[in-house]
Amino acid sequence: MRFLTGLQPSGQLHIGNYFGAIEPAVRLQEKGEGFYFIANYHAMTTMESAEALRTNTRGLAVDFLACGLDPEKSVFFAQSAVPEVNELAWILSTVCPMGLLERCHSYKEKVAKGIASNHALFAYPALMAADILLYDADAVPVGKDQKQHLEVTRDLAGKMNDTFGADLLKLPEPIINESTAVVPGLDGQKMSKSYGNTLPIFGEEKALRKLINKKVVTDATPLEAPKPTEGSIILALYKLFATGEQYNSMVAAHHAGGVGYGQFKKDLFECYWEYFRAARERRDWILAHPEYVDDVLNTGATRAREEAGKVLSRVRTAVGLGWV
Ligand code: ADP
Ligand code: TRP
Repeated sequence: MRFLTGLQPSGQLHIGNYFGAIEPAVRLQEKGEGFYFIANYHAMTTMESAEALRTNTRGLAVDFLACGLDPEKSVFFAQSAVPEVNELAWILSTVCPMGLLERCHSYKEKVAKGIASNHALFAYPALMAADILLYDADAVPVGKDQKQHLEVTRDLAGKMNDTFGADLLKLPEPIINESTAVVPGLDGQKMSKSYGNTLPIFGEEKALRKLINKKVVTDATPLEAPKPTEGSIILALYKLFATGEQYNSMVAAHHAGGVGYGQFKKDLFECYWEYFRAARERRDWILAHPEYVDDVLNTGATRAREEAGKVLSRVRTAVGLGWV
């Protein structure tokens, strides 16, 4: 079983990224072979400078490794180390109806948010399909917002197979963990860096404590009164980190009253801080050993390129590129 996922290096990772994509990817390393990459071509659709792209690419490599990506078990690489992906994206574009791309929510949302529309932003799902199909991936762990892109990928693979030969490309399955499919932000909307409501995985202890204390939205129920559990953002976040017992005890304290939101936020912070302790320690080690990151990415690039070469040559032959 081959699992594959990509993450855009577009800024600080948050716990939505963690539970939607990183944690499942790390867990699946035990069940099969992981192909995990930093989607830096994708990030170019919204990045302002070369420097930002470079820094974020490296930063994401560090953070993904810190979160448990094991280069002994998985192939970890930068998307741009395998330029073959662009050739496959072009080939897929030739069987990709405009309407399929026009229906993609993610494109429409980005344009509605004021991101300047360009061809790459529009054609993004074709490149994402190429990312997946180039490695014969069986399954793709992602958050719910990427589900439609997986459908596009399967559609394009199906069209290629219909046109150029059954079994040319493997149709991948999405893996979406329903319990963490949409992690709420500090304000209760979906957590997303574009809404400014994120809880980062890594950062300064004091600043993060303050962030939870000041930014997690609560209602105005007084300290002594019972508190609503339905729609509670504190509880929804706490559930991600707490044991069942800890969670039940916070629910009981909501029902009973007499405990204020300040205390619940403190408990949330402590639990979250503890949850990422090992990852933070590992990250400190990685930051002190930059050559480790270079080694991992170079080895990953070689492996990924080998695999990509096989699939691309199969596709080139099937579509009639080449002259023998
Ligand atoms: P953002 O919305 O902050 O820009 P991205 O679109 O870069 O995040 O998402 C990167 C990965 O993290 C994707 O697989 C996406 O599905 C997942 N993800 C992002 N936000 C959430 C969330 N709030 N809940 C669950 N998964 C998420
Ligand atoms: N589009 C994904 C995102 O914005 C990132 C991504 C690019 C990806 N290529 C992929 C995810 C291939 C899974 C598989 O988060």
